[in-house]
Amino acid sequence: MNTIKAFHEQPHEAKSKLYTRAHDREWVIYTSNYDLYRTNTATWHDSLAVWLSPEKKRAGEKEIPEVYRKELLAWDLHSEKVAETLLELLSEGLGLGAEKFKDLGFLVTKLIVGHYHPYCPQPDLTVGLTPHTDSGLTVLLQNQVGGLQVKHDDEWVDVEPIPGALTINIGDTIQIMSNDKYVSVEHRVLAKASKEPRISVVAFFNLETESDTNYFGPLPELLTLDKPALYRKFTMPEFQEGFYSKGLDSKSFIQKIRL
Ligand code: OGA
Ligand code: NI
Repeated sequence: MNTIKAFHEQPHEAKSKLYTRAHDREWVIYTSNYDLYRTNTATWHDSLAVWLSPEKKRAGEKEIPEVYRKELLAWDLHSEKVAETLLELLSEGLGLGAEKFKDLGFLVTKLIVGHYHPYCPQPDLTVGLTPHTDSGLTVLLQNQVGGLQVKHDDEWVDVEPIPGALTINIGDTIQIMSNDKYVSVEHRVLAKASKEPRISVVAFFNLETESDTNYFGPLPELLTLDKPALYRKFTMPEFQEGFYSKGLDSKSFIQKIRL
């Protein structure tokens, strides 16, 4: 977190070389509001996103800003071990073999995003990050400033920062494949009038996103006459289209494919 903070606190000229909105062509992306032109709401944060997987998208080491490189590459390995263990537990929690979610490809796509929320003089006029759900499995670190909230029983609840703790989000594809046994979490970040910037480092693990012949859906092992599939099958390009065309949003794809 200190090194992503150092990256964001460099002079403008050092960062602007990496500024891009070509999210489909660049593997190290410095941007502000990744959905700026697809949403009605601009939000109060900048981000540095680094692709780490699949191999053809993996950022070259030299492309990763030097202030952040060593730490990011270490976190790539450690966060993946966390994700791997969690995927095993989530599979076992459904009564399936430990390898199931990994075999389906939940470690195939990996992106680590370091967000920086600067001091906001009028936090009640904006938000840090608009409400949304993530797509796969998310391993999130936040500093002590706080602001992350989850929706629980229709109320926003603070996710209090705990030093050294990770926050894990279940995303929409896990909800669909588990046939609602696991439910994706709606979350947002409030803007804060804190002089100290809010830092978070968010590792996203996701399915292979490009094949349009690879169908996913509720896992057949979980379905019975009493518990039929709640969703139709989908491909990841179909999932991504909704996810990336409208900007951040909550569960609209889940609603679209619900039977
Ligand atoms: C995200 C996200 C929350 C945070 O990047 O998807 O929800 O604390 N981030 O940065
Ligand atoms: Ni999120």
